[in-house]
Amino acid sequence: MNNNIFLIGFMGSGKSTVGNILSEKLGYSFVDTDAIVEKDGEMSICKMFEQHGEKYFREREYEALKKVMKKKNQIISTGGGIVTYEKSRELLEGQEVYYISVDSETVYHRLHADSTRPLLKNSSFEKMSELLSMRKKLYEDTGTFEIDGRQAPQQVAEEIIFNIKEVRKKP
Ligand code: S3P
Repeated sequence: MNNNIFLIGFMGSGKSTVGNILSEKLGYSFVDTDAIVEKDGEMSICKMFEQHGEKYFREREYEALKKVMKKKNQIISTGGGIVTYEKSRELLEGQEVYYISVDSETVYHRLHADSTRPLLKNSSFEKMSELLSMRKKLYEDTGTFEIDGRQAPQQVAEEIIFNIKEVRKKP
């Protein structure tokens, strides 16, 4: 068993914040596929989308996921669109994947002033809601557990820890 915990969910669901809390509480290392893509690609995600397009980014994201999965005992926060790429979804199959769910109002409230996410740049509330609802089923199908991400990050992390303990109790 690799003991890796994956976090999936839409932009603004709190994956990084929750992931950092989990990493501290469980003594696991924290990794973020977005950070790996940026480091390995030597450019920001915004620039990558601009210069090479989304498909290129998805492939780099898949490579980042594959790379981190070689190590153990990690909290792995993934980019919000990782579930849209079939190869990445296949990698996540059979892993312990927590889906942090949010509604569009929460995302809007948290991210309306954000300029680092290419897919939300100049996006209206309606467009963002549409993207979220298009992905909902993919998150549900890919996640092994769904946690309500509208709660405070500390609470989300506690629920995940409770689940992890339950899963590990099972023979
Ligand atoms: C994306 C989400 C971002 C990042 C990229 C694309 C998406 O990650 O990977 O901007 O398609 O939802 P976060 O979910 O960490 O914001």
